[in-house]
Amino acid sequence: MRKHGFSLTNPLRQAPVESTEMPKKPEKQAPIRAIDIATASPDELAEQRKAVFRRLLGYIMPYRTRLAWGIFFGILAGAVNGFLVLVIRVVLEVVDTSEKVAEAYYPFEGMPIFNDFAIRPPSTDNPWTFVAAVCLSIPVLLLLRGIFHYLHAYCMLWINMKVLYRLRDESFSGLIQQSLSFFNKVKQGELIQTVANQTRTTADASSQLLSGFIQHPTGILAIVVMIALIDPLYTFGALVVFPICILPVVMVSRKVRKAGGREEKESEGLMVTLHESFSGIRLVKAHGREEHQSKRFNVGNKQITKFIIRWRKAMEISSPSVEIVASLGICVGLIYAWLTDVQPKDFMAVNLGLISLYPHAKALSRIQVQVQKCFVAALKVFAYIDAEPEVKDKAGAAELRECRGNIDLDEVSFAYIEDRAALKNVSLSFDAGKRYALVGQSGSGKSTILSLMMRFYDTDSGAVKIDGHDIRDYTQSSLRDQIGLVSQDTFLFHDTIENNIRYGRLDASDEEVRGAARLAHAEEFIVDQVNGYDSVIGDKGCNLSGGQQQRLSIARAILRDAPILFLDEATSALDSESEKAIQKAIEELSRGKTVIAIAHRLSTVLDSDEIVVMKDGGVLDVAPHDILLERCEEYQRLYRIQFAED
Ligand SMILES: Nc1ncnc2c1ncn2[C@@H]1O[C@H](COP(=O)(O)OP(=O)(O)O)[C@@H](O)[C@H]1O
Ligand SMILES: [Mg+2]
Repeated sequence: MRKHGFSLTNPLRQAPVESTEMPKKPEKQAPIRAIDIATASPDELAEQRKAVFRRLLGYIMPYRTRLAWGIFFGILAGAVNGFLVLVIRVVLEVVDTSEKVAEAYYPFEGMPIFNDFAIRPPSTDNPWTFVAAVCLSIPVLLLLRGIFHYLHAYCMLWINMKVLYRLRDESFSGLIQQSLSFFNKVKQGELIQTVANQTRTTADASSQLLSGFIQHPTGILAIVVMIALIDPLYTFGALVVFPICILPVVMVSRKVRKAGGREEKESEGLMVTLHESFSGIRLVKAHGREEHQSKRFNVGNKQITKFIIRWRKAMEISSPSVEIVASLGICVGLIYAWLTDVQPKDFMAVNLGLISLYPHAKALSRIQVQVQKCFVAALKVFAYIDAEPEVKDKAGAAELRECRGNIDLDEVSFAYIEDRAALKNVSLSFDAGKRYALVGQSGSGKSTILSLMMRFYDTDSGAVKIDGHDIRDYTQSSLRDQIGLVSQDTFLFHDTIENNIRYGRLDASDEEVRGAARLAHAEEFIVDQVNGYDSVIGDKGCNLSGGQQQRLSIARAILRDAPILFLDEATSALDSESEKAIQKAIEELSRGKTVIAIAHRLSTVLDSDEIVVMKDGGVLDVAPHDILLERCEEYQRLYRIQFAED
């Protein structure tokens, strides 16, 4: 049994959603299309990067007031760092006045350049208030910095969560609107990875980038201004080498960006393996392929680890190199101090300021990997949000109401993959209220006909008509409202039996649900379940056999009560005995409807009004059973094979 309902994210990291109202979509921008970052040209990449970040900004701008507050507090927190340098200079002055402290803690005592480090009386009349004020000023400044930083982080996180919430909602809605052809092409694990995790990478990075771009430069600026006020020449001398700090960062940047991007990409593959292994768990077990799956998972896992190590390594190398290069600045400063007459307190304060520049410089060097990870993830997210469904309602499409159920195929041709026709020039007429069967060997195009009539795909040429009108003139949802489908692969949600049946018609009453279950011969096993209709499928003990699942999906179709009914090997999962019971239910269900059945057993469709014989995407003959048996070779062949088997 397949079921969904697993959570892939840490719930603590999910957006706190107080209200479901969302800001309006940002004004129309050119849609973003997925490109392969491994093969795209640098120009293409640069252009895409610009488009992606411009778009992302559109998601943040609705919160610009809060953003402005966040920036404001970020700047305050940065500015406090500058004041700290000043205060520490004053503290040093106080320390300077105490002989004992100076002797005990100052290792350079007696060195020529520290001649100024002499005992002097405090500069105020009351030394103790002065000392107390100085002592308190550091905790107070740290407290202020803490508060500002907290407020800054809170505003940024708030924006992060809003963006995440919106990205997840929009990417899911974007995806669920896609046509079947889209889902044929992409892997489900990839979709899950994008909606669950890449949205988070995008949102995280977007707010971290914003706060990083604000906080670190302002922090640097504040410190530089302060130390420049203390000693401009020294500061200038020390900072001359500062630009060289960027060198190691630039040197590793390509590697870091590439590996960061690859990590994002590879984690998609990992999710695909994860998803397939668990959704195909019966197959895995039946073939004893646990090891095999583990190995496949391991390959992806190893790759990701490799990429993470690669970019982390490059970054970890770049930060000590930043330090080493920056310490050269201090050397320059020392020489300057030696040559001139710098006061020790100034010397200490400026050096302290210089040292506190490093964390900011290092953090800035980390931003590039975030930029790249954000780009790769956001590209995917936006590409999904922007993807146009292949099958679209045309402008002003009508609602199809109360159709009679005449369906015509007019010279329909269709190929899933170019040049490999699944249907070639098929013309067929299905009259309202009659029962039809499609027969033919597997791959002859039977299911494709049903898919085209439901407009899961658009025909390449020709038209499908319902009651004489092209189905493209109607909205897809109103068209599908008129059709009930029971197919061979049943799908049940991780929900109660009752809700699974009600999925056919959401406003059905309990009585109607029960009636449908009864008609589908499902009630007999439903009442045997621990909680009857309220049993949750897939929960403790409530596991249904293939035949039982099939009967639930028939009940779903009965409840839907549409004038057209498609049965695609609807009874294939049933044993002969239940099939007979179901056959009765289906007859019940079929009364007065246009029924098109694809049967895996000819015996179940012998009494159809007309049987369509298909081969290689074409129609060979259409006639009742007796006539086909006389004149259609393919039908005779199919008939012989079946009845020789039975
Ligand atoms: N999603 C798909 N993508 C590509 N080819 C497909 C897809 N579904 C079916 N086909 C191909 O189209 C042809 C008709 O398939 P189908 O209509 O499912 O046959 P039938 O139902 O008669 O067994 C087959 O050759 C099949 O391989
Ligand atoms: Mg089929």
